[in-house]
Amino acid sequence: MTVSKYGTFKDSLNAPVHRWFTYPAGYSHKLVEAKAGEYGIGPGGLIADPFVGTGTTSLAAKQMGVDSVGVEAHPFVYWVAQTKLDYENDLDLLEKEAGLISEHSHDILSEGCHMDAHWPDLVHKCFDEENLDRLYALRTAVLDNGGERQDFFKVALTAALRDTTSAGAGWPYIAPSKFAERKIRRNAFHEFSRRCDLMAQDVAQMLAATAPASEHRLVNGDARRLSDYVEKADMILTSPPYLNNYDYADRTRMETYFWGLYDSWADITANVRDKLMMAATTQVRRGEMVDTAGMPLVASLDAVVHGDLQDAVERLEELRTQKSGKKSYDMMAAGYFEDMAQVVMQAREVLKVGCPFILVLGDSAPYGVHVPTDEIIGRLAVGAGFSSYSVEVIRTRGDKWAGNSQRHKIPLRESIVTVIR
Ligand SMILES: C[S@@+](CC[C@H](N)C(=O)[O-])C[C@H]1O[C@@H](n2cnc3c(N)ncnc32)[C@H](O)[C@@H]1O
Repeated sequence: MTVSKYGTFKDSLNAPVHRWFTYPAGYSHKLVEAKAGEYGIGPGGLIADPFVGTGTTSLAAKQMGVDSVGVEAHPFVYWVAQTKLDYENDLDLLEKEAGLISEHSHDILSEGCHMDAHWPDLVHKCFDEENLDRLYALRTAVLDNGGERQDFFKVALTAALRDTTSAGAGWPYIAPSKFAERKIRRNAFHEFSRRCDLMAQDVAQMLAATAPASEHRLVNGDARRLSDYVEKADMILTSPPYLNNYDYADRTRMETYFWGLYDSWADITANVRDKLMMAATTQVRRGEMVDTAGMPLVASLDAVVHGDLQDAVERLEELRTQKSGKKSYDMMAAGYFEDMAQVVMQAREVLKVGCPFILVLGDSAPYGVHVPTDEIIGRLAVGAGFSSYSVEVIRTRGDKWAGNSQRHKIPLRESIVTVIR
């Protein structure tokens, strides 16, 4: 079932500026508009998003003339959001600089400077040699261009990477083993220039629109410390990571390697993975999670929920010993709800009384153990002092695995959980 007035994250593939970088966002700008309308939030109001990702909430708020604060822990994703939010660019200068970058990159290529390039293995595997040379030339030209509009061109080139790669580049993971799976070879120069044109069109469209002036702040910070960044909000709207073993640090690996930000798993762990809330087994360090395993925060909010979760965690611990993959779903689940309990308590601190905290999230069934995340978060919120919660199922998920006999048969769902302060 799809509730169309809320749209899906796929709307972001078509909407101006939202489409600058493909990132499964949990929801689209339509949900932000619908919820702001439902709760009467207009100019003068403030919407906070503790997991702002690539900035859907902030951008939608800006288009409505509503103030916003967005928090994102992943530095690269935060940078994308900031660049999108600062879309106001001089169109003549954009056109002029796009021309200069194009000229400069062709010169670099013909002078053979790309021969000096040194790429990490993953980048090598994702592109054919010809495109890799073009990408090196483009990267150098964009960085040489400097100036105020550099981020605009960096985002254009970042988006062009997925357009150009010959690897299986579906989200979330790049699969270099599926190299050359794509039949159509796209030229990096053309894709970059197509992206620049498309983004400039979006800028023109946004500049022509009239929304009341509003203030927007993005923080490269931690949702678990929301009250450090915002004092009072009229609505919190967010899509946290789901409890589904999705590693957000890994998903932008190609892009961050391309820009030379990181060059190894350890590097990404130190600079990204360790800063994110728990949502994937790749984040688990069993030896360091002795306190978390008992879920003391969850226990302080709701004893019954805590008991149910402890049963699930124990079952997962047992299943772990029986399965060959030995995945730490037990610690992942315990860490997830401890972190979410902290976010819920922070949300209570910053929301005005009577205002909504709205979360779009999915449940999951690791090793076939169903964890009804929506109901659990709702109940924890009431335990933390919110007055009520409701759950609206917007989609059922997991059908693509229907033919897989190894996979559990538990129907999963995506829900909107609304808790009122
Ligand atoms: C479902 S996505 C949100 C997408 C967002 N709605 C958008 O428009 O792109 C969840 C986001 O939470 C971020 N995240 C994970 N842990 C975090 C934390 N502790 N603080 C802030 N952000 C975090 C992830 O990096 C990811 O971008």
